[in-house]
Amino acid sequence: MARVMVLHGPNLNLLGTREPEIYGAETLEDVNAALTALGAELGVEVECRQSNDEGELVSAIQAAGKSCDYLIANLAAYTHTSIALMDAIKAVAIPTIEVHISNTHAREEYRHKSYIAPVVEGRIEGLGTHGYLLALRHAARKIAAKGGKR
Ligand code: DQA
Repeated sequence: MARVMVLHGPNLNLLGTREPEIYGAETLEDVNAALTALGAELGVEVECRQSNDEGELVSAIQAAGKSCDYLIANLAAYTHTSIALMDAIKAVAIPTIEVHISNTHAREEYRHKSYIAPVVEGRIEGLGTHGYLLALRHAARKIAAKGGKR
């Protein structure tokens, strides 16, 4: 079965209580449950991971490169700072969709820069947690179009 890793970066474990006016009321468990359910519908196994640690996120991206067909990544604040995470995506060359719950371009200027934008297939932002589900639908469609292979 095709596999998709969904990777959540720092502070996304606090979804539901963290600035709900920006990030909404759903918890990370809610988001991951919705992704797993949609994956079952689409015939895709979804592996959800979260870390507050940059090095662990690098290792997760490397693991995705070995065992997954697609990566859906919300690297949160590291998006705006991390050359290491950009290098990891580039190194493993896994098709990646960048997701942000909020519209980073409508927020502070320091959120406008994404180090990973140049190495991802596409970006979904500002659509709330629904953006993850849209990303998963896209990944499933692309995987199916390639006959289940990368
Ligand atoms: C975020 C946007 C980032 O700027 C911020 O640091 C986050 C969450 C989002 O999903 O909207 O932690 O990635």
